[in-house]
Amino acid sequence: MKIVEPTSTQIVLPSGELMGASGRYSKRVSELAGCYADHGAFQALVALRGDEIAYVVDQFAPKTTEGDLIFGTSTLEPGDVAGEFFMTRGHLHKKADRSEIYQCIAGRGVMLMETLEGRVAAIELVPGHIVYVPPYWIHRSVNVGPEKLVTLFCYPADAGQDYEIIAAAGGMASLIVSDGRGGWRQAPNLRYVGRADRTKPGSVE
Ligand SMILES: [Fe+2]
Repeated sequence: MKIVEPTSTQIVLPSGELMGASGRYSKRVSELAGCYADHGAFQALVALRGDEIAYVVDQFAPKTTEGDLIFGTSTLEPGDVAGEFFMTRGHLHKKADRSEIYQCIAGRGVMLMETLEGRVAAIELVPGHIVYVPPYWIHRSVNVGPEKLVTLFCYPADAGQDYEIIAAAGGMASLIVSDGRGGWRQAPNLRYVGRADRTKPGSVE
């Protein structure tokens, strides 16, 4: 058995950078095709800002085996596509019985969650608040404020991520959109076909 040394780290604000992270990946605006309901508005945004970073994930992953933990930060830029707020691509854990927590460090967001049957939960994230994502819930974070949304996440190291499950259903059942008064609301996603019947009109090929 290999003994890993204890360590500590810190989050740099306002950037959200995790000091000493063992890995980092980022998504540009142009890489989020298919996430947003208004395709035309998304294309217009890509033409203007396609190369800009939409979000960055820093992580500390000592191992990816059962019993360990992976933690890190997700930093999501503010913005919207025709009123639909910027979001992460979202996923279900490959080992779907693995849970996760997210703590909001800075900014204002929503953790949008959905069961495989299409039941939705949307919980607000403000600094200090922690959202528990139970096993079997698909999850994505959404930035509903004017600043960067920085969250600290932690999940079992062997969880893995299935990023295709959202696209295969035409997105998540709810969109998180502006309420026109500086806040947010859920709106039905008209492209959503669910996971039980993918033969409905509008299903994603
Ligand atoms: Fe996760």
